[in-house]
Amino acid sequence: MIAIDAQRLLGRIRELGAVGRDAEGRLTRLAASDTDKLGRDLFVGWLRQAGLDVAVDRIGNIFGIWQGADNNGQAPVLIGSHIDTVIDAGIYDGCYGVLAGLEVIETLKSSGLSPSRPLAVAAFTNEEGVRFSPDMMGSLVHAGGVDVEAALAAVGTDGGTLGQELARIGYAGDREPGFLKPHIYVELHIEQGPVLEREGIPIGAVESLQGISWQRITIDGVANHAGTTPMSMRSDAGYAAARVVTFLHDRAAASNSPTVATVGTMRLEPNAINVIPSRAVLTVDLRDPDEQHLQAEEAALAAFLERLADEGITVTVERLARFEPVIFDGRVVELIEAAASKRGLVSRRMTSGAGHDAQMIARIAPAAMIFVPSAGGISHSPREHTEDAELVAGANILLDVVADLAGMGERGNG
Ligand code: GLV
Ligand code: MN
Ligand code: MN
Repeated sequence: MIAIDAQRLLGRIRELGAVGRDAEGRLTRLAASDTDKLGRDLFVGWLRQAGLDVAVDRIGNIFGIWQGADNNGQAPVLIGSHIDTVIDAGIYDGCYGVLAGLEVIETLKSSGLSPSRPLAVAAFTNEEGVRFSPDMMGSLVHAGGVDVEAALAAVGTDGGTLGQELARIGYAGDREPGFLKPHIYVELHIEQGPVLEREGIPIGAVESLQGISWQRITIDGVANHAGTTPMSMRSDAGYAAARVVTFLHDRAAASNSPTVATVGTMRLEPNAINVIPSRAVLTVDLRDPDEQHLQAEEAALAAFLERLADEGITVTVERLARFEPVIFDGRVVELIEAAASKRGLVSRRMTSGAGHDAQMIARIAPAAMIFVPSAGGISHSPREHTEDAELVAGANILLDVVADLAGMGERGNG
């Protein structure tokens, strides 16, 4: 059985994981930042070394394409994920899938066989959405879900637009987004949750992905003296923000559905120890695998905010991202299961709690995902970890699935 070069893949994951560290060793490559540029440059260098055609589109998505010979303009099998990170990130989220995609194409390229259709690997821009909303932006634009000009005009948490920042780091490409229409899309990713490890199962065949709702809430109260203002005379934006946090947390914790709710950012103004906050700005991340449930959670939050506004503060809500749950393509899921079973690996069908580029590309092509275990279910943290053998096993399943889809597998039927 053909296999990927494990040392090359693991070495690259570590090398990319060393790019974008601050003085304390924290890894952060926010989309279109200086550190993202360094990661992109490294990746593009590897694509060129592998002899792939490199294309960059206007939203900064990077593609490495192996055209192959004699495949008559067939649509490519696309493998993808992202190399931007959250703040103080681990080294696997996104990067594993992109580098495994490159590894699979390099392995097949040197196998001497020719593919019945081109193979391509993509690193999509701004999957994490930490700096620019919405998340999964590059793949969303690729899938035609939002206009490229609107996406380029997105304003980052630090003020600049995505378009300006991509131009500044040299990744405002010239290809039109969506120029590469995939035949099928496959994404390999760490699970980022506890299921596979808990059950001792090496491979997840991901058949669905939950809905995501992101909102930014701005609460305006009145600044006043912390010592002289009686409790009954306050319009305290900070207190109101805290009530939003506890409302969301308690409601999700008590829910019968797998709803999760997170307030991940909060800023108070003027942010002084002896001043009642005049303003609070917080973000809400709400997720549920069921669209009706997600809508019910959004409605409950809206009703709570209305009640708060009756208490002498002003509440403004902006929607930052909204994606419905996605069901992946059953045939691709079956291919993943079959590939795992051929290698003697147990797999299980599962849903994804995290957002992924596959969720966007599923709009334009049959898509599915492969998961490998995450130690302790930890991700979006420097403690993110997957064992080398598990990473290699997942990459070999990706190899088999892609080889099959490109007519290079044992069945050779493309
Ligand atoms: C992407 O990492 C997400 O927020 O799920
Ligand atoms: Mn990811
Ligand atoms: Mn992530």
